[in-house]
Amino acid sequence: MPMRRAIVLFLASAGLAAAEPATFGSRVVPILEKNCTVCHGAEKQKAELRLDSHAAILIGAKSGEILKPGNAKASELMRRITLPEADDDVMPSDGKPHLRPEEIAVLEKWIAAGAPATAEFDAPAMVPAVIAPPAAPDYRLRLAQANELAAGLGLRLVPRSRVVTDGLVLRTASAPGRCDDAAIAKLAPVADLIVEAELARTKVTDAGLASIGTWQNLAQLDLARTAVTSTGVARLASLAKLESLNLSETKVDGAGVAAVRALPALKKVWAFGTAAEPVAP
Ligand code: HEC
Repeated sequence: MPMRRAIVLFLASAGLAAAEPATFGSRVVPILEKNCTVCHGAEKQKAELRLDSHAAILIGAKSGEILKPGNAKASELMRRITLPEADDDVMPSDGKPHLRPEEIAVLEKWIAAGAPATAEFDAPAMVPAVIAPPAAPDYRLRLAQANELAAGLGLRLVPRSRVVTDGLVLRTASAPGRCDDAAIAKLAPVADLIVEAELARTKVTDAGLASIGTWQNLAQLDLARTAVTSTGVARLASLAKLESLNLSETKVDGAGVAAVRALPALKKVWAFGTAAEPVAP
C-alpha cells in the first residue's frame, strides 16, 4: 500500500524534525529557570532550597526533601505548583504567574520517571507556547551599562531569567537604606529594562514614585515599609504592565489603592498594616 507508507514516512520525518529528547536538561531546567531559580538559585535560596542543579533539587530544602523520585503525588514540589493560585503556599510565590498545565505535566512525568539526571523520560509533547509579548527589550546590549549604573548607586540590576527579553530585577536588599529617590531617578537610562523593583524598606518616597511611574515595563513593585503615601501611589496610574504591588506597612490608604485599582494587568495588591483594606482586585 504505497499510499499509507508515504503518510507514515511523512509523519515520521515531521516527528523527527520536532523531536527533542526529553531530559532533565532539555525540558525541566528551562521551566525551573523561568519560574523558580530567581528565588531558589545562586542569588537567593528561599527555604534554603536551590533548584538550579539536579543535585540541589534532590538535596531539597531546610525542611528536607521536596520530591520523591518515582512518586509525583507524594512530592512537595508537585503539591506546591498545583495549589490554587490564591493559596499562601503556592509556587512560584509572590503573585508570579502559575506554571502552565504543560509545564506542570513535564515536571510530573519527570518525577514519575524517577527524576533522572540525564536519562530520557516520556514527556508530553511540547505545546507551542502562546507567543507572549516580550517583557522588556533585549537586555544584552545594555546589561553592562545597567550593572555599572546600579553598582555606582549601591544597587543591583540582575536578569530575571536567561530569556533576554525577560527584563531586569532591581535589588536593594543588602542595603535598602542606600536607595532613595535620587538613586531611583538616576536609573532612568535603563528603566525600560526593569520589570521588578524590590524597594521594601528603602528611602523611596512619593517623589521617587514619579520616576517609577514612567517605568513602562514594570510588572512587580514592592514598596512595603517605605514612606510612600496615596499621593505617590497615584503616580503609578499609567503602569499598564504592573501585576503586583506591595504597599504593606506604609501610610497608603484607600485612596491610593483606588488610584491603581483599574490598572489593566494588576492582579494583587498587598496593603496589610495600612489604613486601606487588604484587597485582591
Ligand atoms: C518570589 C520567590 C519565589 C519563587 C519565584 C519561587 N519560590 Fe519556592 N519558595 C519561596 C519562599 C519564600 C519559600 C518559603 C516559604 C514557603 O515554604 O512557602 C519557598 C518554598 C518552596 C518550597 C518548600 C520548601 C520546603 O521547605 O519544603 C518548594 C518545594 C518550592 N518553594 C518550590 C518552588 C518551585 C518549584 C518554584 C518554581 C515553580 C518556586 N518555588 C518559585 C519563594 C519563591
